[in-house]
Amino acid sequence: MPSKVKKAVFPVAGMGTRFLPATKANPKEMLPIVDKPLIQYAVEEAVDAGCEQLIFVTSSSKRAIEDHFDKNYELESLLEEKGKNEILNIVQGILPKGVHCVYIRQAEALGLGHAVLCAAGVVGDEPFAVILADDLIDGGNNPCLKQMVETYENEGGSSVIGVESVGADETDKYGIVATTDLGNKIGRVDQIVEKPKPADAPSNLAVVGRYVLTPRIFELLRNIGKGAGGEIQLTDAIAQLLEYERVLAYEFDGIRYDCGDKLGYLKATVEYGLKHKGLGEDFRKYLQAFCVS
Ligand code: G1P
Repeated sequence: MPSKVKKAVFPVAGMGTRFLPATKANPKEMLPIVDKPLIQYAVEEAVDAGCEQLIFVTSSSKRAIEDHFDKNYELESLLEEKGKNEILNIVQGILPKGVHCVYIRQAEALGLGHAVLCAAGVVGDEPFAVILADDLIDGGNNPCLKQMVETYENEGGSSVIGVESVGADETDKYGIVATTDLGNKIGRVDQIVEKPKPADAPSNLAVVGRYVLTPRIFELLRNIGKGAGGEIQLTDAIAQLLEYERVLAYEFDGIRYDCGDKLGYLKATVEYGLKHKGLGEDFRKYLQAFCVS
């Protein structure tokens, strides 16, 4: 039985330049989809997959994330005094019992690979998950990371990367894999390359922001140099990992929204709004009326 995946790393130090000016003083991971910030969706997905330790790799402008997952005594006693119990329960349940957070500073923006390496000391010699919060994935009753952790367990503890097909003209926005099909939405990764031009891409199967990785990745990250965009790329370390271990690509069930992009963010807002328990029906009526006017 492979070791359990109990730790999740959230690289959240990025500047969010695609969303300025909204992200000038507010972390992009704190942008809300309806009534929850993106990072909370990511945390819920990690917890649903069985993670108990949440490791945030942050930077100086990201304090709001720490505050969001911390206790706020003043707010809670105010809600209690006013008898607003429903919202009090929601606020108190942001972080489920038995789950705890660790914050690590990434002092310099040296890339995703470097951010993951910053978590090495806390992760130790264990498999772990990586979630990029701006890839919001609606997996319905079966969240994406849970599907991936099951694949990791069923496949003897191999690293698993979440992938989906993208347009042939979009390969330069993603890590791209070439795979050998193993059935059940799983492929063995034969090649992985960061943001290739469409003409150079080995396929149109793109890496989305979900990874389950074995700890060997850390020793590889320590030694790789700068890659695409002058950054230390996680993709390059995974390419090296292929020389030592089998790595699997998994085509998850679910819908991904690129919430680092304004159009993707708006799509997620509309679709999560329509599915929202308290709001969905009214929002649907509003949209129907709006679209015919
Ligand atoms: C990162 C990874 C890339 C991956 C993408 C998924 O890129 O480097 O391989 O496909 O996340 O969202 P970024 O979007 O941070 O440029």
